[in-house]
Amino acid sequence: MRQFDVATLPRLVFAGGAIARLAPICAERRWSRVLLIVGRSAIGDPEFRSGLERSFGEAGVTIVARRYDLFPEGGHPDASPTLGDLWQAGRGEIPEASSAVVDAIVDSVRTAVDAVVAIGGGSALDTGKAVSAMLATDGSVEEYLEGVGTRTPPGAKVPFVAVPTTAGTGSEATKNAVLSRVGDGGYKKSLRHDAYVPDVAIVDPQLTLSCPRALTAASGLDAITQLIESYVSRDASPFTDTLALDGLAAAGRAFRRCVERGDADLEAREQMAYAAYLSGICLANAGVGTVHGLAGAAGAVVPVPHGAFCGLLLPGATAVGIERLRRQRDSLGALAKYAAAGVALTGGPAARPTGSLEERLEALVRVLTDFAALSSLAPLRSYGLAEDGLAEIARAGGNKANPYEFTVEEREELLRGVF
Ligand SMILES: [Fe+2]
Repeated sequence: MRQFDVATLPRLVFAGGAIARLAPICAERRWSRVLLIVGRSAIGDPEFRSGLERSFGEAGVTIVARRYDLFPEGGHPDASPTLGDLWQAGRGEIPEASSAVVDAIVDSVRTAVDAVVAIGGGSALDTGKAVSAMLATDGSVEEYLEGVGTRTPPGAKVPFVAVPTTAGTGSEATKNAVLSRVGDGGYKKSLRHDAYVPDVAIVDPQLTLSCPRALTAASGLDAITQLIESYVSRDASPFTDTLALDGLAAAGRAFRRCVERGDADLEAREQMAYAAYLSGICLANAGVGTVHGLAGAAGAVVPVPHGAFCGLLLPGATAVGIERLRRQRDSLGALAKYAAAGVALTGGPAARPTGSLEERLEALVRVLTDFAALSSLAPLRSYGLAEDGLAEIARAGGNKANPYEFTVEEREELLRGVF
């Protein structure tokens, strides 16, 4: 059997209504002074905010600082119209976390903090994760970003609690925070250390019920991309394989229902929240592939939502990758994994892998294409990207642990296909 090791996992509370346990868990751990970071989408319901503050008070936990206004003040100022539409329901949350916001929050904290609590989508969670690290680390977070800074993250941090309100990035289970700066000298890179895995993850699928359709779709496509890429990854292990397949089965049952039925299908929301959590564990331990490599490069240039980008690229990258693998020797193992991913995503764990390898591979590409179509994803050009910028994204974005090594030209072709 292949040898592997597993990064720390968070203490997980997975339940509808689990948000009620947030403050008591802080109290149990003797975290009496917390910094609270809440993404805009999480406070659409005004009662949520007051209920949250009340529960901390009842548990004897002091909120020493709070940020409810994070993204409008400090996020990327240049959100495209498409992003504006996407986030309108959330009153203008801009969806990517930035180094500038992390530094600004850390600088604004004047008193001791026992824990950082982040409630929101991937951006809010990544912001909170990076703040929890930088509260115990000197300098600017940029100095520690992979491929940007020159310093190695020491792993010191203030304890961190992640409460996702979207089912997507799996940040509540990962050891990295993705931070970006868009435009000249832009980047989208990770602050990463095993110690940055959240201490506690509170996954309350009820919090995802009010997630707007476009965000539900984009987040779900991110989780599905992470599950597929980690499953077929060259660094996958038996441990991550099991989790990835179960996550794909859950996503296969629930994705369409979440997108189409909104807040009317809690059971589907639970399945997607579970899939997203598993996708985080899998990406932290098996890595991801070409789609995520390109997503990082694209995110440095245009403010395209991460999940939407992944959803756009995934069908083509999967189809072309499979087609190229078929021409290579010793690729049967990788092809068999793509086929198994197709079975999991289209039929759940009880489905028999009937049909030929060919049919199962086709089923995978078909379902990914269907999911992307259901999500009404805007093409890449709608984010303000010029076509002559594709070559640079293709060059800057690597293949990570993808089973097929796309050439730069092939990556550019993938991008052109969704431009
Ligand atoms: Fe992702």
